[in-house]
Amino acid sequence: MKGIILAGGTGSRLHPITQATSKQLLPVYDKPMIYYPLSVLMLAGITEILLISTPEDLPSFRRLLGAGEQFGLNIEYALQYQPNGLAEAFVIGRRFVGDSPVALILGDNLFHGPGFSGVLEQAKSDLDGCVLFGYRVKDAHRYGVAEVDAAGNLLSLEEKPARPRSDRAVTGLYFYDNDVLDIAASLKPSARGELEITDVNRRYLQQHRARMVDLGRGFAWLDTGTHDSLLEAGQFVRVIEDRTGVRIACVEEIALRMGYIDAAHCHALGEKLAKSSYGEYVMSVAESMSVAP
Ligand code: DAU
Repeated sequence: MKGIILAGGTGSRLHPITQATSKQLLPVYDKPMIYYPLSVLMLAGITEILLISTPEDLPSFRRLLGAGEQFGLNIEYALQYQPNGLAEAFVIGRRFVGDSPVALILGDNLFHGPGFSGVLEQAKSDLDGCVLFGYRVKDAHRYGVAEVDAAGNLLSLEEKPARPRSDRAVTGLYFYDNDVLDIAASLKPSARGELEITDVNRRYLQQHRARMVDLGRGFAWLDTGTHDSLLEAGQFVRVIEDRTGVRIACVEEIALRMGYIDAAHCHALGEKLAKSSYGEYVMSVAESMSVAP
């Protein structure tokens, strides 16, 4: 499976912070926001990744992540000139995806929860059509909203409905089979002029090939869309990391634990950041995972 991170848009709800930088590069406590969705793809076992962003911001992502080989990844880049909708990722990414299944994750979505890599692996191996990831929220009207049956089959899907039929939000992580390329290519822009991901998902729903995996109570799915929610996300990460001594979305650690890099390489990555506590953490993880002589 290949992965796409969509990290474009104007970030206008966070102006003036995002007037001169990408929203998805803003700090969420101790690391750039993009590390969080990147780490989700890595935990899903995905190593071939396309990052899509704007002409202004793409060079910054490239500076941060390069070709990805330092994390045992292959990261490619592509431009989205205008925010024409989430489903445009599959038009832009068509050549990159080729004949593979593909995961899409929004560059501003933060997930944290127990056994997440197992949840992702299971969803990947069960994939027949599309898999969405649902999360119970109290303000469902702000999101895509799904109804599902007991087996997790999608029954209905609406984008930001005034009166939601359930409290199950559709998070910004989507797994698709290769049909998504043709589905996205056949979409017409919506009333607001966008290629809507909800229209893609509805197409799978009509074919009875749309499932939703529920991210249960133990999970956190955090918003970073407003000044308050961005700060809260940072505070959440800080509290967990401070309490447990374990970092969330530390891409060097995930690369090591997933076997994409070895301990010596991980340690060298930490050394480059040694003046920060993040770098010290990376080194300590590498030391604890290296085989004693
Ligand atoms: O976060 C989950 C929600 O994401 C889902 O529940 C909704 O169904 C889905 O439509 C989407 O809703 P949003 O209101 O969050 O979409 P928004 O237009 O804000 O875009 C989400 C992110 O993607 C944002 O960081 C900007 C970026 N983006 C957006 C568009 C439209 C792009 O990179 N390119 C785009 O063309």
